[in-house]
Amino acid sequence: MLSTMRVASRRAVSRESGMRVLLTGVRAGSTWANVPQGPPDAILGITEAFKADSFAEKINLGVGAYRDDKGKPYVLPSVRAAEDKIVASRLDKEYAGITGVPSFTSKAAELAYGADSAALKEGRIAITQSISGTGALRIGGAFLERFYPGAKKVYLPTPTWANHNAVFSDSGLEVAKYRYYNKDTIGLDFDGLVEDLKAAPKNSIILLHACAHNPTGVDPTPDQWRQISDVVKEKEHFAFFDMAYQGFASGDADKDAFAPRYFVEQGHNIALCQSFAKNMGLYGERAGAFSLVCASAEEKKRVDSQIKILIRPLYSNPPIHGARIASTILNDPELKKQWLGEVKGMADRIIEMRTLLKQNLEALGSKHDWSHITDQIGMFAYTGLKPEQMDVLAKEHSVYATKDGRISVAGITTGNVKRLAEAIYKVTG
Ligand SMILES: Cc1ncc(COP(=O)(O)O)c(C=O)c1O
Repeated sequence: MLSTMRVASRRAVSRESGMRVLLTGVRAGSTWANVPQGPPDAILGITEAFKADSFAEKINLGVGAYRDDKGKPYVLPSVRAAEDKIVASRLDKEYAGITGVPSFTSKAAELAYGADSAALKEGRIAITQSISGTGALRIGGAFLERFYPGAKKVYLPTPTWANHNAVFSDSGLEVAKYRYYNKDTIGLDFDGLVEDLKAAPKNSIILLHACAHNPTGVDPTPDQWRQISDVVKEKEHFAFFDMAYQGFASGDADKDAFAPRYFVEQGHNIALCQSFAKNMGLYGERAGAFSLVCASAEEKKRVDSQIKILIRPLYSNPPIHGARIASTILNDPELKKQWLGEVKGMADRIIEMRTLLKQNLEALGSKHDWSHITDQIGMFAYTGLKPEQMDVLAKEHSVYATKDGRISVAGITTGNVKRLAEAIYKVTG
């Protein structure tokens, strides 16, 4: 009995080691044996550290999504109402066309360019639905890579949204930089920006954040935009706008669209990326649009055909639900009015949190000038804190945000702003 068991166990061992040989053999020859470990995503790393912290009053200022004053995700009532309408109308689930839901794209263009836009009335804006703002940037990158007649190199502001670099280089464009942020003034380096745009070769592609620059929260003034437009015209550059926050910056969708509208008025045939992630809170629905202003309706037709040819092998056609929500809101005057009020509500809460943070820091006796907190606009504030100080904020005060000193103002509430100010004060004085 014993010997039988021993034989059986020896057999099992040899079977196991045989398997091991086999597995090792498979592993050594694995197709993916040389795939290197990539670095973790900076924002996800913050969320992980935040989750692992057991302190009840921990604060997460890393995420780029709106939170209400209780720190909770917010679904806009206008979005809920639109969804109810969509469900009640029992629509089919057929494919959208390659460029998406037409009732959505026509209203998205109107929202961005303005209902009285001459380019829109002349039928010379080519527009397609996209997988939110990121997908719009990717289609734009691919279109420029295929058709831009000048150098296939895009100039990005320093700093810029972390994903811009990857989106454009994965689209096959070369990526270069222009000066944007002055860390000494914690404001716009306008002279540096103009100098760099002037120094770039004629016909360069320039990426511009339409409003609520991410990550700095620093935007040019209307007068500075006019000067930027002049330089772009003088150098015959191509203006490529990323508008991920229309309405979310000032609370006024028309005001936030000033820059792209002004450029179009001035005769720039711009590219424009739109996202409904922030202003409608449709983050996971991935509703966005990419458009190109063309010289004529005839040119638009040709551009349209090539946008379709680009999209078809990428993802064939976009998802419909988010676009239907946005379309329902934008096509119903009452619902649209309600939505604009809700966007303003979100923007106002963020503006109020900026004021409260500054007031709390001043009340603590901070000697620093915190006016940049209220001068900046949009979801993010660039605090001017250094990476070491951000580390101390996380380790000693359970306040989590990116190392570059950027905080998501959407994560601040009336309930945590005092503790946040105390933590920042302890770190900066
Ligand atoms: C500047 C900028 N562009 C584009 C996006 C794209 O966002 P989404 O793809 O979620 O619309 C973001 C999101 O944070 C952003 O900040």
